Amino acid sequence: MVSRVIPVESFDLVIFGGTGDLARRKILPALFRRFCAGQMEDGARIIGAARSEHTTAEYRRFVAEAIAEFNAGRSCETGTLDAFLDSISFVQIDAMGDTGWSELAGLMQPDRVRAFYFSVGPSLFGPLAERLHQHGMADSDTRIVVEKPFGRDLDSARALNVTLAQHFDESQIYRIDHYLGKETVQNLMAVRFGNMLFEPLWNSQYVDHIQITVAETVGVGGRGEYYDKSGAMRDMVQNHLMQLLCLIAMEPPAKFDPDAVRDEKLKVIRALDAVRAEDIVRGQYLAEAEKPGYLEHVDDQTSRTESFIALKLGISNWRWAGTPFYLRTGKRLRARTSEIAVVFKETPHSIFEDDGGRHRNILTIRLQPNEGMDLGVTIKEPGPGGMRLIDVPLDMTFADALGPDGEDVPDAYERLIMDVVRGNQTLFMRGDEVEAAWAWTDPLIAAWEARGDRPQAYESGSSGPEDALMLMHRDGRRWREIRP
Ligand code: BG6
Repeated sequence: MVSRVIPVESFDLVIFGGTGDLARRKILPALFRRFCAGQMEDGARIIGAARSEHTTAEYRRFVAEAIAEFNAGRSCETGTLDAFLDSISFVQIDAMGDTGWSELAGLMQPDRVRAFYFSVGPSLFGPLAERLHQHGMADSDTRIVVEKPFGRDLDSARALNVTLAQHFDESQIYRIDHYLGKETVQNLMAVRFGNMLFEPLWNSQYVDHIQITVAETVGVGGRGEYYDKSGAMRDMVQNHLMQLLCLIAMEPPAKFDPDAVRDEKLKVIRALDAVRAEDIVRGQYLAEAEKPGYLEHVDDQTSRTESFIALKLGISNWRWAGTPFYLRTGKRLRARTSEIAVVFKETPHSIFEDDGGRHRNILTIRLQPNEGMDLGVTIKEPGPGGMRLIDVPLDMTFADALGPDGEDVPDAYERLIMDVVRGNQTLFMRGDEVEAAWAWTDPLIAAWEARGDRPQAYESGSSGPEDALMLMHRDGRRWREIRP
């Protein structure tokens, strides 16, 4: 299968935080891969900006090293790296002062898209927006890209929205949730709204429950200081899992257009029920062999921050009333695996004498690794000897479907950065959406803090605390296994 690459128009992309970890691991390798794919027209320019002092030659070396480390194994024609590096320059800049701003403004070319990627902490969003405005770079051709965390509660998110709105229209603000750029997440919409098969069954009449799992094997590592102030609820549920939930639960938008899609997602968030205390399980991982436990990464040895959370949610609308959604995410779990499982109701009655029981279909959407989907269906066990039924998966692994280059599933950042250049906000969060997600999250956190709840300890390499299993067992249901 030949993939279609449509070149985007020429652009200037400035990366504030150009020497930071995200630029190194994600943004620069993603740009390189789009360059290799022929998507960046001649003349596109990337300008790294950071507080530290570097020459352009030094910065290009930094970029080359980042690509060598984080683009390993991806093929690209010889000579392409040099051509890519030619498009890169560096400006030393002080977000809070005057250094570098005139130089940056002098580099901007008229009549082309300019994007400013704020790959910095949220405390710098305001000063950066202000400086762009002062130096005449905040005109209608300008787009800004802001990373998470977008606030740590409703008040701080609102304040950020107000600050950005002083200089930019909502149509110029691209709030990144990189989960929306994942290939399989986009496929969720294709599957739901590009097929007739699922829609009639996509409701509480046929769906028993939905599980969303985002399990990681990594621990908090060197991010302890940030993480301990966030926890899994703020770091993962308020954004990534919430977005997955929205895409799985939303009504069909009238068209695949930014506001139509985001309006429908917003309705889901606003229809979420408050979560009862007994429907939340929080955990903190313990040390294992030479791997440190959660508390070894953080200063506060009495920390009650969760590195794992499981929740049971309800959505009060016609489509979903009565169908529970179970969400869980955590660090240092048994395997790195993210999936959504739509578990359909059992057949009402078995007509087969030899059949042990009733059967159910499960549609599993694997976000990572091994991106793809399978639909569990019941068939006759092959061979003579009666009508015994077995459940087998109808498997569609995207790598197979994409052909010989199938392992090249694009990284989320590739898609998202090109969407910024194209001016397509469909896969970015709107300000009201982020605020609605915080408005739902805040009271849950406030309630467990007021109760003084402590997270339960769980073994590294496990599936999380025992009580998380009970969250489903007590409803007569089971989590799908977390396995590699
Ligand atoms: C980030 C979180 O947004 O997403 C991290 O801050 C988490 O804590 C990461 O590890 C997970 O992303 P991915 O793409 O590896 O699933």
